[in-house]
Amino acid sequence: MERTLSIIKPDGVEKNVIGEVISRFEKQGLRIAALKMVKLTKKDAEGFYIVHKERPFYGSLTDFMSRGPVVLMVLEGENAIARNREIMGATNPAQAAEGTIRKDFASSIEENTVHGSDSPESAAFEIGYFFNAFELCG
Ligand code: CMP
Repeated sequence: MERTLSIIKPDGVEKNVIGEVISRFEKQGLRIAALKMVKLTKKDAEGFYIVHKERPFYGSLTDFMSRGPVVLMVLEGENAIARNREIMGATNPAQAAEGTIRKDFASSIEENTVHGSDSPESAAFEIGYFFNAFELCG
C-alpha cells in the first residue's frame, strides 16, 4: 500500500470537474485517504514547488497555483504514485495519452489540471506539507 499527494489545480476547479477527476481515481482503484479544498497563498505555492525554484516558470506557476481554490487529496493504493501518474497523463497535455485527465481537461503545460507526487520521497514531503496525522484516514 502506497500514498501519494494529488492536487486538483485552480484550472480544474474553474472547469467544474472536481467530481469527474475524483471519480476517475476511484474507478481506477485508488482510495481517498484525506481531502480538503483550500486557496493557497503565493508563499504556500512557492514552498510546495520549492524544487522548481530555479526554473523559468516558477513565478508564473506559483501565481497560477494561488489564483483560486485547489483540492488537496491523499490517494492510497497499490503503486499509488505510478498509478496516479498514469491516470493523470503526461505533464504536457499535447503529449498525454487518450483517456487521461490531462488529455481531457488540461489547457497547457502549466494549467494542467492535476498534480501528483513523482516519487516516494516527494510524496512524503508533499503529504506532510499539507496534511497532519489527524487528517489522514484509512
Ligand atoms: P506538476 O506535475 O504540478 O509539476 C510542476 C508543474 O510545473 C507542472 O505540473 C506544470 O504545472 C508546471 N510546468 C512544468 N513544466 C512547465 C513549463 N515548461 N512551463 C510552464 N509550466 C510548467
